[in-house]
Amino acid sequence: MLKSISARQRKEPPVPHIAVVGSGPSGVYTAQGLVQQAGVPDLRVDVLDRLPCPYGLVRYGVAPDHEKIKSLQGNLRTVLEDERVRFLGGVEVGPALPPAKLLDLYHAVVYCVGAAADRHLGVPGEDLPGSWSATDFVAWYSAHPDASDHGFVHGVRAAVAIGVGNVAVDVTRILARGAAELAPTDMPEAALRTLAVSEVRDVYMVGRRGPSQARFTTKELRELGGLPDTEIVVDARELALDPAYTDPSALPAANRRNVEVLRAWAAAPPRADARRRIHLRFFLRPAEIVDGGGRVAGVQFERTRPDGQGGVLGTGMYEEIPAQLVLRSVGYRGVPLEGLPFDEALGTVPHAAGRVLRDGRASLGEYVAGWIKRGPTGVIGTNRPCAKETVTSLLADAPALVRKDLAQDPLAGLLDAGVRPVEWGGWRAIERAEAELGRSLGRGSVKIPDWAGLLGAARGS
Ligand SMILES: Cc1cc2nc3c(=O)[nH]c(=O)nc-3n(C[C@H](O)[C@H](O)[C@H](O)COP(=O)(O)OP(=O)(O)OC[C@H]3O[C@@H](n4cnc5c(N)ncnc54)[C@H](O)[C@@H]3O)c2cc1C
Ligand SMILES: NC(=O)c1ccc[n+]([C@@H]2O[C@H](COP(=O)([O-])OP(=O)(O)OC[C@H]3O[C@@H](n4cnc5c(N)ncnc54)[C@H](OP(=O)(O)O)[C@@H]3O)[C@@H](O)[C@H]2O)c1
Repeated sequence: MLKSISARQRKEPPVPHIAVVGSGPSGVYTAQGLVQQAGVPDLRVDVLDRLPCPYGLVRYGVAPDHEKIKSLQGNLRTVLEDERVRFLGGVEVGPALPPAKLLDLYHAVVYCVGAAADRHLGVPGEDLPGSWSATDFVAWYSAHPDASDHGFVHGVRAAVAIGVGNVAVDVTRILARGAAELAPTDMPEAALRTLAVSEVRDVYMVGRRGPSQARFTTKELRELGGLPDTEIVVDARELALDPAYTDPSALPAANRRNVEVLRAWAAAPPRADARRRIHLRFFLRPAEIVDGGGRVAGVQFERTRPDGQGGVLGTGMYEEIPAQLVLRSVGYRGVPLEGLPFDEALGTVPHAAGRVLRDGRASLGEYVAGWIKRGPTGVIGTNRPCAKETVTSLLADAPALVRKDLAQDPLAGLLDAGVRPVEWGGWRAIERAEAELGRSLGRGSVKIPDWAGLLGAARGS
């Protein structure tokens, strides 16, 4: 039976009990920061996630062919297996479990809910069948249980990825990879089978600004050049519109390396034997997704030119790239949580050093970390210092936080509220079921792509 943990009743020093909402990198780094603090030895952390599986975008965003980055899950696991940390999956903060209720159950709540939605282009035709957000495509090949199968590559010979960030590189690379390279990954079986028979031959990755302003990192860019049977097509005349192209020496190192890689590709001889081509295009901003009888037939772009200050100006000249698939890869966006303040313009929760601001004042006991705090930029490691700042604020508030007596173990409160969490053992059962599924398919571990399968595995049904 769960007991009340009223510090006053037990006459013991109060044990801070913290909820971290979200088990992606920022949530796990927050939990780690909290339990590692000397001076607060008995601190307890519950890491809640709406999914029955931990790790956020490390499981559901990092591309399946990036096994080394995926293996960071092992580091995150160590934190979630700490005896002071409890993973509670299948717990969604929302109308049925609002922030106010959570604040009743815990001394403090840290929201690490990421930025799950996609940004919009705001151009005609954006919602045509065949025009999907990269978020949708990534969710599908990553087996997110909320993903839909839009038949993404069915009947597609040419695809356009709009945007030149690392997510655009990911989706471009996955479209260009063959079945033999994807089969050893944990990609769900249905996505693997679909991509295995894909007839995509041309993938265009298109930036509205110049090569020196692209957001992808050089390692990810270079990887495209190593894809088997794939030619990288870059037009030196287009690159030369960027003043930094002829003399990249003044650029920051990361941008200079990108330009150097692109220059080398532009100078390379054409490869007639390649089965697929990746075209890297610049100075084209999307004006319209072209409607070809009720579905995507291409993208109409306006040619741009540098404005001399890092931005671009329209030229009034247009170019259409025919395509049957458009993946809008122009960034993610935070989703408001009812009962928590939200800055619509930034898509983040307003905060001061991680303390949630309500009407401009820090709300005692409410904190944020990760993409919902900073916006959707930064690699996994960027979330560590971000979480550290939040943990520092929370621990500074700890004496005030523990003045509140908790009526009971928060888990009992969650159960009273009708929540049925998937605990660590349930997640381990999902892992075993995925290994078993992979064995039955003659592959390594293969992800279960639906709610029923995940919850069935977690609850032993
Ligand atoms: C497609 C993609 C690929 C990426 N690849 C790489 C890469 O290869 N290398 C790299 O370093 N970085 C990569 N990144 C960046 C990295 O994933 C992010 O920096 C990081 O995941 C952000 O961490 P987070 O914890 O803020 O959010 P997330 O990882 O999104 O975690 C948020 C968690 O909160 C949970 N949640 C959301 N709402 C609720 C709710 N209401 N109640 C309960 N739980 C909730 C979600 O289920 C999720 O588990 C990639 C990003 C994307 C989008
Ligand atoms: N392997 C990895 O390490 C990896 C993999 C995936 C993601 N990530 C990280 O995750 C974060 C998010 O990546 P992301 O690619 O989603 O975002 P991002 O890096 O912000 O890139 C977004 C791209 O979309 C473009 N864009 C935005 N609005 C547009 C519009 N209206 N029309 C045309 N283009 C538009 C941007 O161009 P402008 O620059 O002109 O605005 C930019 O090229 C990044 O920090 C990234 O590094 C890392």
